[in-house]
Amino acid sequence: MNIDIITLFPELLEGPFRASIIKRAIDSKYVKINFHNPRDYSSNKYKQVDDYQYGGGAGMVMMIEPIAKCIKKLKSKKQYDEVIYLTPDGEKLNQSISNDMSNKKNLILLCGHYKGVDQRVRDLFVTREISIGDFVLSGGELAAAVICDSIIRLIPGVLGNECSALSDTFQDGLLAPPIYTRPSEYEGLNVPEILLSGDKNKIDLWREQISIERTKKNRPDLLKN
Ligand code: ADE
Repeated sequence: MNIDIITLFPELLEGPFRASIIKRAIDSKYVKINFHNPRDYSSNKYKQVDDYQYGGGAGMVMMIEPIAKCIKKLKSKKQYDEVIYLTPDGEKLNQSISNDMSNKKNLILLCGHYKGVDQRVRDLFVTREISIGDFVLSGGELAAAVICDSIIRLIPGVLGNECSALSDTFQDGLLAPPIYTRPSEYEGLNVPEILLSGDKNKIDLWREQISIERTKKNRPDLLKN
């Protein structure tokens, strides 16, 4: 997979890609991530990339021209499956969207900053708009990091034990059951007896029951579907 990220602040994204599973996925060539800065595409003498809003209002808007140039250049070299704009007014990210994205070959992620991008960027180039939740971040970069993490770990081969992604919370529409490791007793708190029983069928049943109870309690909305 190839992910091209358009951002004014690549340094906000570099850290999360330099450790753990994403780093391994990059090192093993499951994924290639490239940064592109709209500032490098500004024809303005001062490398300006944002301007005041027409009609007035607080906050600057990212101009269309540098972003359009950048996207056109990327598209001249590759065919992209999606051009995704990270924005709090997009569709809310969930596991099903991440599963879908993890099967794509080439993605562009566009990070807005300040108030966001000129609407015409969205009208002309963006194929999908994604929010990571009902809150506003300073820009799309941290949202892009979240999306990258959630899709890269799903690429077959990236996780050592592929089953471990299949047993994630949300993969079956339920929250994951509680997990334990050694010691079996800590300050009087014991690991549930059944997990020590060795009876795989009973353990699976117990996990499913607890998953359903957890989902009912914490996320009843998931059970409605
Ligand atoms: N940019 C700012 N806030 C965001 C959010 N919640 N999700 C995605 N992109 C954003």
